Amino acid sequence: MKHKQIPEKTVERLVLYRHLLRDVLASGRETLYSHELAALAHNTPAQVRRDMMIIGYSGKSRKGYGASELIKCIGQILDESTETKIALVGIGNLGRAILSYFSTRQGALSVAAAFDSDETRTDRVIAGCRCFNVKDFKDKVKELGITVGVITVPAKYAQPTANMMIEAGIKGILNFAPAPVQVPEGVFCESIDISTTLEKIAYFGRTGKGTS
Ligand code: NAI
Repeated sequence: MKHKQIPEKTVERLVLYRHLLRDVLASGRETLYSHELAALAHNTPAQVRRDMMIIGYSGKSRKGYGASELIKCIGQILDESTETKIALVGIGNLGRAILSYFSTRQGALSVAAAFDSDETRTDRVIAGCRCFNVKDFKDKVKELGITVGVITVPAKYAQPTANMMIEAGIKGILNFAPAPVQVPEGVFCESIDISTTLEKIAYFGRTGKGTS
């Protein structure tokens, strides 16, 4: 199903709502009100209602939102009709940790293949994921229908790895290497850096100027 482009912050909130709604269902509840979802998500009922309008969900009138129904509705926005397949490049310490994490998860995302330039790390299965030589990247991306790439190589190889992903047709990249990565328009790239985030947290923790 095609939807109009949804702002990045809204997508982040929808991901969070879906996690929270799954917890609500697991606790045995079927419905909840907008103010309850807002409290769980640390935002306002008005924000929750605006987000519901964006995704076209109106809810049950008296009992609030139906958790299963809303999870399904969010899924129609966030998920592709088929599983999103990920390629990870760099099967080192971080790469392996990510492979292990995904091997125990069930959901709409899976790491379909991992790649490395070091032959001692390829032609094997790690945490249920097939590991190939990076030379085969383009072919495997096409063969397996991969649409998202994760970069876990040393910083100096981050940009060449991103270029290789873009050339193979990948449109979404998550970069863990501590180096900025340039991508052309039409490709979405986000970088994650635990130490930057920790420095920020340490600062706000120290100064007591937290936002929540
Ligand atoms: P590592 O040295 O254990 O693993 C790097 C892997 O990349 C190795 O297997 C190596 O053979 C492979 N590699 C190198 N060049 C390659 C290329 N051109 N193509 C394919 N594979 C290639 O390093 P580690 O500890 O796993 O860290 C990986 C990256 O993640 C580093 O850039 C590190 O700074 C970063 N990192 C980022 C964190 C974050 O919070 N964003 C946290 C930890 C690490």
